[in-house]
Amino acid sequence: MKPPHSSLILLLTLILLTTNSPTILVGSLAFTPSPLTQKVRVDFPAINTDVVYLDSAASSQKPNFVIDAQSEFDRTTHSNVHRGAHKMSREATRRYEAARDSLVKFVNADSRKEVIFTSGATNSLNLIAHSWGIHNLEPDSEIILSIMEHHSSIVPWQLVQQNFTPSVKIKFCPLNADNSDLDYDELEKMMNENTKVVSIVHTSNTLGITTDTKRIAEIKAKKAAEDSIYIVDGCQSLPHKKVDVQQLSCDFFVASAHKMVGPTGVGLLWGKESLLNKMPPFMGGGEMIDVVTTSGSTFADLPGKFEAGTPMIGQAIGWGVALEYIERIGGMEEIEKCESNIGKYLYTKLQEIPDVTLYGPTDPTKRAALAAFSVKGIHVSDIATFLDLEKIAIRAGHHCTQPLHDMLGISHTARASCYFYTTQQDVDVFIEKLKETIDFFKSQQSGSSDTSNEIDYFE
Ligand SMILES: Cc1ncc(COP(=O)(O)O)c(C=O)c1O
Repeated sequence: MKPPHSSLILLLTLILLTTNSPTILVGSLAFTPSPLTQKVRVDFPAINTDVVYLDSAASSQKPNFVIDAQSEFDRTTHSNVHRGAHKMSREATRRYEAARDSLVKFVNADSRKEVIFTSGATNSLNLIAHSWGIHNLEPDSEIILSIMEHHSSIVPWQLVQQNFTPSVKIKFCPLNADNSDLDYDELEKMMNENTKVVSIVHTSNTLGITTDTKRIAEIKAKKAAEDSIYIVDGCQSLPHKKVDVQQLSCDFFVASAHKMVGPTGVGLLWGKESLLNKMPPFMGGGEMIDVVTTSGSTFADLPGKFEAGTPMIGQAIGWGVALEYIERIGGMEEIEKCESNIGKYLYTKLQEIPDVTLYGPTDPTKRAALAAFSVKGIHVSDIATFLDLEKIAIRAGHHCTQPLHDMLGISHTARASCYFYTTQQDVDVFIEKLKETIDFFKSQQSGSSDTSNEIDYFE
């Protein structure tokens, strides 16, 4: 009988023979550079240089395909939508509404009435909190968020609470013991007939946890008020995996274009038509009305009811082009595959560095392609600043998840985040320079008899 490791060697040899890309062994992990990444990298001018960009969770880079299309629109067609009889306005309107149709298809919405363009996920979440919240929360209502929510999911509800319904309770569902997932048992215990809102992130921008939306919806159906709503913040899921809003079992889904190779300033609010129909407008102005008189106004049908004023025309069109780019390079399934590859590589390499503490799931197959970490004895802002000198872009801070950081007992983490254009070389350069930075700080600390600053480094 062959020793066990020989079957592993055989498997690796087979992988090597059946792919065009060389497979390398990283610890116990077989890493095959993705052909997609190798192909698309040249499309992204800002990083087709010696820059190592590991901050895509904050904002992704844009390919020439999107940059050029937006610039072509601005040079030839820019004008306002839904109001001009002239040719340019008709063409701008056609492209704007075509972008909506692309988004409808991309998330598999039931109808174009369910797809509202906003200025970003933050705007979408504020819209829900104000339009739905103010009119549906009662004095004893409870709102359940998770401890890993982005501030965009927390603060709008706090504003509604402070300004309109001070007696509502906002409760935060914890994570399980090793911070690798939401604590679903606790979520069930927290819900009751007063629970009116459940708003839980799909994929955490700090821990990389992806929540089980069907399970959350089942718990909500069993325990929460019958007319409660479930909101999914998809900012870190829609750019990275296939999302079908009808399969999520939620009532609302939000995302931003700039995290998925699209422009800044445009986002999505998807909601069930039956709910959106009942909600009053969030903002008033042009476009969202039917008739305005001196004594009052009636409102446009969906989606116009929630798109007051001149919308983000060029950006929405740019988002439509970004979706076309994603389709052209193979669609979300391909993106997901290559990201899981690079994500595992990033996590495994970071795990190998002594003094690095990683947060979130320890199983690299259960994480999004990002890693939040701290380094013993060194402030993460120092790490990020030193890496920046080497043209390596990572993020240091609380990543708009302060309650999560409080729970973890730290004020800041560093975060490296990948996208489908992130190469193995990007990660290798980052890891090498991170090790050098840690060595540098350690040598400074051991060479110095003055330890008065050390306390700051242990945040
Ligand atoms: C999970 C999550 N939710 C919400 C947001 C807010 O997105 P935006 O700033 O595009 O409105 C972000 C952005 O970082 C995020 O990562």
